[in-house]
Amino acid sequence: MIIDTHAHLQDKKLRENLENVLGRAKEVGVEKIICVGYDLASSQEAVLLARKYKQIYAAVGIHPHDAQTLTSEVLGKIRNLAKDPRVVAIGEIGLDYYRDLSPRDKQKEAFIEQIKLAHEIGKPIIVHDRDANQDVIDIAKKQRAGKNGGIMHCFSGNLPLAMEAIKEGFYISFAGPLTYKNAKKAQEVATKIPQNRLLVETDCPYLTPEPLRGKLNEPAHVRFVVQKMAELRNQHPDEIAYLTGRNAREVYRIKD
Ligand code: NI
Repeated sequence: MIIDTHAHLQDKKLRENLENVLGRAKEVGVEKIICVGYDLASSQEAVLLARKYKQIYAAVGIHPHDAQTLTSEVLGKIRNLAKDPRVVAIGEIGLDYYRDLSPRDKQKEAFIEQIKLAHEIGKPIIVHDRDANQDVIDIAKKQRAGKNGGIMHCFSGNLPLAMEAIKEGFYISFAGPLTYKNAKKAQEVATKIPQNRLLVETDCPYLTPEPLRGKLNEPAHVRFVVQKMAELRNQHPDEIAYLTGRNAREVYRIKD
């Protein structure tokens, strides 16, 4: 049984066919899906979906792209959503220096505010890090961000960084790029980190894995990430599905 630890089912293309999307996921053994927010509206929608469908859980938070929108009023609304029992994490939060859609100071401030929120309510965080490795790990350490557990989502750093994050309490999650030919760095990390820290995700509708690259991504396709990880680690795909599912339950504290 596989858990897709990071999906954006609120996306219009997935939302329009949600029953079919969920049906196809179930058919191939994807048992649970974490629907992750990136701004206030998508966080609200993630919670609604998680209340409606028992295989969906929600994460709520403001993405670094939207860091500028995190006023105290918005933070208050995220806090209220975060208390919902269907919400298993604060995310996605972090830093994105690749696109720099919000000023970096504002990104850091929003990241720290939301780490504090996660501490306050006792839930893990989902971290988005693009071209910001050093600042992310510095803030994570200083704020003890992994105190309640955390996930480095769609990990793109090197092995030393992964080991440092693990030491801070983080799990390392891999998406479609793990299956790409040029993903040597991610493949090395997925091969060498301890198996009790591995997670799989789609980040759908983005990052479609091989051999479906170019098509719309959806939770059912996470099985190709599982297969690739199994190949890399020389383990059976069922074993990877089991391990990553167990790890996901652990970090998100999913009981059923
Ligand atoms: Ni995402």
